Amino acid sequence: MSRPVRVGLLGLGTVGGAVAKAMGERAKRLEASAGHPLELAGACVRDATKPRGVDARLVTDAFEILDDESIQIVVEVIGGHRPALDLHLAAFERGKHVVTANKEVVAKEWRVLHEAARSAKRELRFEAAVAAAVPVVAAARALGAVRPRILSGLVNGTTTYICSRIEAGAGFDEALREAQAKGYAEADPSADVDGWDAAYKLSILVSLLEGRWFRPEQVSRTSLRSLTVDAVREAASRDRRIRYLAVADFGERATKARVGPEEVSSSSLEGQASGPTNVVRIETDLAGTLTFMGPGAGGDATASAILGDVIQIARGLR
Ligand code: NAP
Ligand code: HSE
Repeated sequence: MSRPVRVGLLGLGTVGGAVAKAMGERAKRLEASAGHPLELAGACVRDATKPRGVDARLVTDAFEILDDESIQIVVEVIGGHRPALDLHLAAFERGKHVVTANKEVVAKEWRVLHEAARSAKRELRFEAAVAAAVPVVAAARALGAVRPRILSGLVNGTTTYICSRIEAGAGFDEALREAQAKGYAEADPSADVDGWDAAYKLSILVSLLEGRWFRPEQVSRTSLRSLTVDAVREAASRDRRIRYLAVADFGERATKARVGPEEVSSSSLEGQASGPTNVVRIETDLAGTLTFMGPGAGGDATASAILGDVIQIARGLR
């Protein structure tokens, strides 16, 4: 039998909890895909007394995971810039591979993290950071030979949910509370509503497609807070819908990227999306137009992408 691969979780909230649950419930399938049994060695949380409903050894000091020499893969799902950055760097220093869903730290620290992974000869994988279950990070990596023209779509489930709930008669705050209850929103939901989350994701996709770091500050942002019920209804009267679009225009000289509320046709994929569904359309020269769509937020959809990355790493381990 092949040796187990031990995984340490940093964070056990919406996403970490779903990863732990999936590891418990589908061990056989994971082993068949990874070529090794995957073992959850422990999970770091802030509050070890919170009821979790998952079977995992809990610690409140991340270094109990990072200093555990039996752990080969660290999954960081705490979120945010710090302490996530320090924890990623500490993991690489200790020879561990890192898988994350944290788009903020990847977008802001692109060079530092890639350099740390390269010097440690370890992998940094972040499929879950953009569009959760939809493998757009893998797709963008696979498009190295093409010249992208336009990337557009929906990369934030919370804002799509809010727009569609307002169309159905809900108020903004009510719709945001619902998105939080469903586990779509960030810990600080202003990251969703003010466009930071979409800007980080767009920055990651553009960086992959261009093969160089496109900083999140280069993405121009318009908050969804400017959206009024009247504007949504007026657009609906013309068979249009308002959605929080992410757009990158890869011009001849410079790439321009923006996120914000824009009108779309009600029959478009974006207009039809009502919840965590993400849509990413990439127009290219060699490969024509590619469209990706699927669940872009929520614990299970994100766990799917994280475990896909863990499996890819485990396949390369002896
Ligand atoms: P969450 O529910 O707020 O969970 C965060 C977890 O991290 C909690 O378990 C929390 O501990 C723990 N934590 C926070 N600060 C910590 C610290 N300083 N030390 C140790 N543990 C700490 O967040 P989430 O929704 O799972 O999101 C996690 C990451 O996944 C974020 O980067 C997010 O952007 C990304 N993501 C989320 C989704 C989604 O749909 N939710 C989808 C794709 C990507 P306690 O439980 O004790 O509070
Ligand atoms: N808060 C994010 C969203 C989670 O609403 O899309 C998925 O990255």
